[in-house]
Amino acid sequence: MLATKIRTAFAPCSLGTWPAALEAHPALARALGLQALWLKREDLTGGNKVRGLEFLLAGVPPRSVFVTVGATGSSHCLATARSAKTQGYRTAVATFPQPDTGVSRAVAACTAATANLVVSASSLFTLPWAVLRAWRAAHHLGRGAPHWIPGGGADPRAVLGQFLAALELGTQLDAPPDTIVVPLGTGGTAAGIALGVAWLGWSTAVVGVRVAPRIVANRWRTLRLARKTAALIRRAGIEFSVPRSALRIRVVDAMGKGYGHPTEEGERAGALAAEHGVRLDPTYGAKAFSVLQRADANVQRVVFWHTFAWP
Ligand SMILES: Cc1ncc(COP(=O)(O)O)c(C=O)c1O
Repeated sequence: MLATKIRTAFAPCSLGTWPAALEAHPALARALGLQALWLKREDLTGGNKVRGLEFLLAGVPPRSVFVTVGATGSSHCLATARSAKTQGYRTAVATFPQPDTGVSRAVAACTAATANLVVSASSLFTLPWAVLRAWRAAHHLGRGAPHWIPGGGADPRAVLGQFLAALELGTQLDAPPDTIVVPLGTGGTAAGIALGVAWLGWSTAVVGVRVAPRIVANRWRTLRLARKTAALIRRAGIEFSVPRSALRIRVVDAMGKGYGHPTEEGERAGALAAEHGVRLDPTYGAKAFSVLQRADANVQRVVFWHTFAWP
């Protein structure tokens, strides 16, 4: 089986308990005018970033230091710090400001309490200096040279974890959904899902809902990550190919004023979901969910990727 071959070849560490549940939500589906709606509960297994971290942290010597970057309320930074700690590693993170919400404050506080070092840039312009400071300091926080993890964990090795999540979905549904909706930030999560959908031979549309600036959240970058992941699998000696034309993603914009700025549309979607017991964060979940309320959504059987783990 492909998932087993990938796990054997890349020996990821164990940070979560899989599979993440797939929940049917008929009442919420009706409220949205959908035939069927499932939530892929990545939020219950530590959030979407844990999938990638299982691969990014694998095989690194004890007491090593990881350096990464993200917004103050970045769940990627928090997931990295938490996962690293459970594996006996250290972390230094460089952060840049984002709009202050209750959620971003809570994540930032947890990151500060978990990471070994947080260097806060005063703006995006001074971020390179914050990264440099974090990188330099990282040399003294643990053993050996530090390990760099790109923002959002957008690395083909991490996409392997997201790919496995999509294969997991394949075992949880009797028939393909017509659409999978996922928040699109740095692209790794959507890349893994798109690769998984292509491998499964599904005609499902993967809709990446853009919640971050176009320079990071875009179709080109996401598909490139997916192709690099396919190449990585092949380089590990695993027979793997998907036709280029099968790798598809549709990017839909829901960012509003900017990354982390709640939108009216998102807040409305979050309120509707909350009425049905589903708690969405304003930066990713609520904005992504909001596209299901749009009159032109044109979808019927939907899987929504619920990614945000409440700190
Ligand atoms: C909660 C949450 N959902 C979705 C995403 C988007 O994932 P990706 O960066 O892989 O596109 C992120 C990224 O940080 C996230 O933290």
